[in-house]
Amino acid sequence: MRYGKITGWGKYVPEKVMNNADFAALIDTSDDWIVQRTGIRRRHVAAETDQCSTMATEAGKRALAQAGLAPADLDLIIVATSSPDFMTPPVSSQVQAQLGAHHVGAFTMSVACPGFVYALITANQFIASGALRNILVIGVELITRMLDWEDRNTAVLFGDGAGAVVLQAADEVCGVRSFVMGSDGEGYEHIIHPSGGTACPPTAERLANREGYIKMNGREVFKFASRKMPEAVIEVVHKAGLTLDDLDLLIPHQANARIIEAAAHMAKLPPEKVFMNVHEYGNTSAASVPIAFCEAIEAGRVHRGDVLCMVAFGAGLTWASAVVQMGKDVPGLPERGS
Ligand code: UT7
Repeated sequence: MRYGKITGWGKYVPEKVMNNADFAALIDTSDDWIVQRTGIRRRHVAAETDQCSTMATEAGKRALAQAGLAPADLDLIIVATSSPDFMTPPVSSQVQAQLGAHHVGAFTMSVACPGFVYALITANQFIASGALRNILVIGVELITRMLDWEDRNTAVLFGDGAGAVVLQAADEVCGVRSFVMGSDGEGYEHIIHPSGGTACPPTAERLANREGYIKMNGREVFKFASRKMPEAVIEVVHKAGLTLDDLDLLIPHQANARIIEAAAHMAKLPPEKVFMNVHEYGNTSAASVPIAFCEAIEAGRVHRGDVLCMVAFGAGLTWASAVVQMGKDVPGLPERGS
């Protein structure tokens, strides 16, 4: 049995920041409303020169540098996103070329906000089976270009960014120890980009009807997420043969502070065991969990041997969780108690 050890991590977030006050000047909203209902204070917004592919590549380069690997060492690249540069080609191939990872296999996963967790689980399977040794997993989103800046139900919620990890084959018990993946397509209309695919091609009439932007039934998603996120945490911890007390840190999808707090409460996890950075980035969809993971490490909250739980929910509707154990000798991570 091989284990997928996380040996590298890296994030890229655009420099440009929009504060809540910037929206209050554009639409009928307020800093108070956004902070109280979501916990969001700022979000990072891509510059014109940023693309989904370039942000993913930058995060990927940083993760490779942390792992001490060259692009040529990679066996596979998986990119999770819902906001690729183009519908086709797959953005993963652009990332492969930009990294200079000569002819390595690459594919894109479209599983909305849980996309990174799905991709991590998938990468781990390739390593556990013995098929591959070094895999780069990236979650990236340039979602602000899909937003209707006149729709207060969505405009204030999202931000851009990318996060990446390197998984390497190892003999010690680590990596993804258990996982849960779920979807409920009955709820497909609750978060939808209507004229973003082949069902409703973007005619002038549809675009004038603002169907070229993401639409969301926030209240329905909120109810679903508040129930599903704690369920997915509790289920995946039990699947790993652990108890919630064994968790060192929960790294949840950063969509709304109230959803995260409700999940932590139901899973009986104290605030110090839950990582939150939604105030700084808003909801970066598939990039949210890997950016939070990187920032948890930067904040000294991830140690060698730690048991983490990653969990996310989103459009589809979809959800995923994974218990991830860090390796015992990973450079760049402190010893617990040190
Ligand atoms: O990654 C998955 C993506 N999606 C999510 O995670 C979203 C999950 N849902 C949520 O986070 C919350 O439902 C929202 C933050 C989207 C909304 O919060 P809420 O507490 O559920 O508010 P609500 O939808 O029940 O709306 C309450 C009121 C409404 O006005 P009326 O109908 O009561 O007059 C909204 O029109 O708040 C209004 N509203 C706003 N007011 C000021 C909605 N958006 C805004 C806004 N500023 N930006």
